[in-house]
Amino acid sequence: MGAAETATVVQSAALQPGLFGLRLEADARLVQACEPGRYLMLSVGDGNEPYLPRPYWVRRVSAVWLNLLVGVGGAGSGWLATRRPGDPVEFFGPLGTTLIPPPRTRRLLLSGDLPGLNCLLALADRALARDIEVALVFHGAVDTSARLIPPDVELLTELNASALTWADALYAIGDPSVVHTAKAALRTAGSRIPAFGVPHVPLACGVGACYGCLVETRRGPKLSCVNGPAFGLADLS
Ligand code: FES
Repeated sequence: MGAAETATVVQSAALQPGLFGLRLEADARLVQACEPGRYLMLSVGDGNEPYLPRPYWVRRVSAVWLNLLVGVGGAGSGWLATRRPGDPVEFFGPLGTTLIPPPRTRRLLLSGDLPGLNCLLALADRALARDIEVALVFHGAVDTSARLIPPDVELLTELNASALTWADALYAIGDPSVVHTAKAALRTAGSRIPAFGVPHVPLACGVGACYGCLVETRRGPKLSCVNGPAFGLADLS
């Protein structure tokens, strides 16, 4: 599958075991379109191997820069981790829809894991810029000395009734198990705050053509790339 745009690596660094960071410079018009929740389909190899691009949420950090955290575990992510300043990375996008917390949100609770980290951070940035308090329950190891998490984001250890009482909106972003855990926590706490699940699912085409990104909901199967990426948590099966 061809890629229409090219970004240039301006920084690269191993941040902690299994986690690599890239800063990409791209056309300002495209970078401005990279709102929280939207993703890029990145070519992740030289030539045609791997053939399919990989979806990555990105975090806009300036008018022309995007930060990309890559959990290194396969051929595609391994290739990205070999990129160095000056290297090109081809992509198309951004695709998907923007995550916008409900209008009266003052305290935003985020819950997620490594696959959701780029999206979590992008959403946290957006909320903080609007004077919304943000707390994050991160499922996994994060090296706080690497300053991956903005200092204004409160890190919580558990998604419990106390956290849900504090918050007036919740996003669970990452592996489907993280989303299901959030749904169970909400039910246990009897919380009725607006709550959304953003499951990280495989996206092969990104445009609704391959049906590879089906998400089961109470309203029937939906496509993450077209109908998502956020779904009402109560709607997710
Ligand atoms: S990624 Fe192909 S239909 Fe969604």
